[in-house]
Amino acid sequence: LKSIRVSLKDRSYNILIGRGTLKGCGHILRRLKIGRDAIVITSKPLFNLYGNTLKDSLRKGRLTSTFELVPDSERAKSYKVAISVLNRISSYDTKKQVFIIALGGGVIGDLAGFIAAIYKRGTPYVQIPTTLLAQVDSAIGGKVAINLEVAKNLVGAFYQPRIVLSDISLIRTLSKRQIRNGLAEIIKYGVVRDPRLFEFLENNCEKILALEPKSLEFIISRSSAIKATVVEDDEFDIKGLRAILNYGHTIGHAVEAASGYSKQYHHGEALAIGMVVASHIASTLGLIKLNDAQRLEKLIERVGLPTKIAGLKFNDIYEAHLHDKKFIRGRNRLVLPTRIGSVKLVQDVPDSLIRAAIKKNLRNA
Ligand SMILES: NC(=O)c1ccc[n+]([C@@H]2O[C@H](COP(=O)([O-])OP(=O)(O)OC[C@H]3O[C@@H](n4cnc5c(N)ncnc54)[C@H](O)[C@@H]3O)[C@@H](O)[C@H]2O)c1
Ligand SMILES: [Zn+2]
Repeated sequence: LKSIRVSLKDRSYNILIGRGTLKGCGHILRRLKIGRDAIVITSKPLFNLYGNTLKDSLRKGRLTSTFELVPDSERAKSYKVAISVLNRISSYDTKKQVFIIALGGGVIGDLAGFIAAIYKRGTPYVQIPTTLLAQVDSAIGGKVAINLEVAKNLVGAFYQPRIVLSDISLIRTLSKRQIRNGLAEIIKYGVVRDPRLFEFLENNCEKILALEPKSLEFIISRSSAIKATVVEDDEFDIKGLRAILNYGHTIGHAVEAASGYSKQYHHGEALAIGMVVASHIASTLGLIKLNDAQRLEKLIERVGLPTKIAGLKFNDIYEAHLHDKKFIRGRNRLVLPTRIGSVKLVQDVPDSLIRAAIKKNLRNA
């Protein structure tokens, strides 16, 4: 079992990465002393896959468990679902020592973390991420939220979990598309912070796609460690340091929004395109060497992620990008790569450059 510390004073916690973490979690959670009665927030499909393993493990750790099933889609991140779960928790919570477990991907992690943040002004919670994306990204760092009609993640908090238990074997039941989804974020970490991770991805692409455990363990551990240090540097996302993790996300979010957050583009797919567009902008500005920009594009292609936008209109993407919440008083701020392993925050990128880069990556435009 590999352990990565997230050092945040009295909010510090460990990320445990390994195979079989789920089976052994009862004893681990017992020793954490965060409560005796677990409320597990999960969805029906995940309950069917892993509910009994978790229940047995908790029982072995002499912890009780009750399961709250929520919808298996982004719709779960709504105030309606949050309030109904909160009502059930409160009626159950008599003479109990309640803590919350998020068993699922980013949707469930964000929702369960949000519920934990507001129930009794803060109830301990645990992340058991079940998607690759959640293991390397959303389960770490304490950003929890639900969506409003007008925008995603508009209502939320910074509320850190007490532990993150990443069981690599859970990834096996994920679809290939969901694996690639997570790989996009891992490629991002390579570009932003870690040339060795990027090289490892280049050299072990096939093994990773075949879910070879050693390679998976390496890329998940490296990515988790990077996320942990960035969160340590800027827990509340105010110093502009955590912003580097938004590399590829400005145009990525615009692509997601233009597609109406449909199944057409998963987050990681939109992110892949966003990273390519940003590297083209960097290239035009002379910030990055052509060779590095090409390495990025090649890796994204080899993983099976898109580099070009298909089936969307230029105007929809362009308009959506103007609504990015990272814009400050109408001035844009883009994270642009300067080489593999390093990015830079650039303000006031000429609008014409952004337009040109989107157009260049539009298929059949
Ligand atoms: N809090 C953060 O810092 C942060 C960061 C990135 C993303 N997010 C949020 O994360 C969400 C996306 O998360 P996601 O990509 O994990 O998607 P997701 O949670 O929607 O999960 C994707 C699908 O995979 C299924 N699934 C999950 N684990 C599985 C497993 N082990 N086996 C088989 N199927 C499994 C789910 O049931 C679901 O249908 C978005 O809401 C996004 O806003 C949050
Ligand atoms: Zn992302």
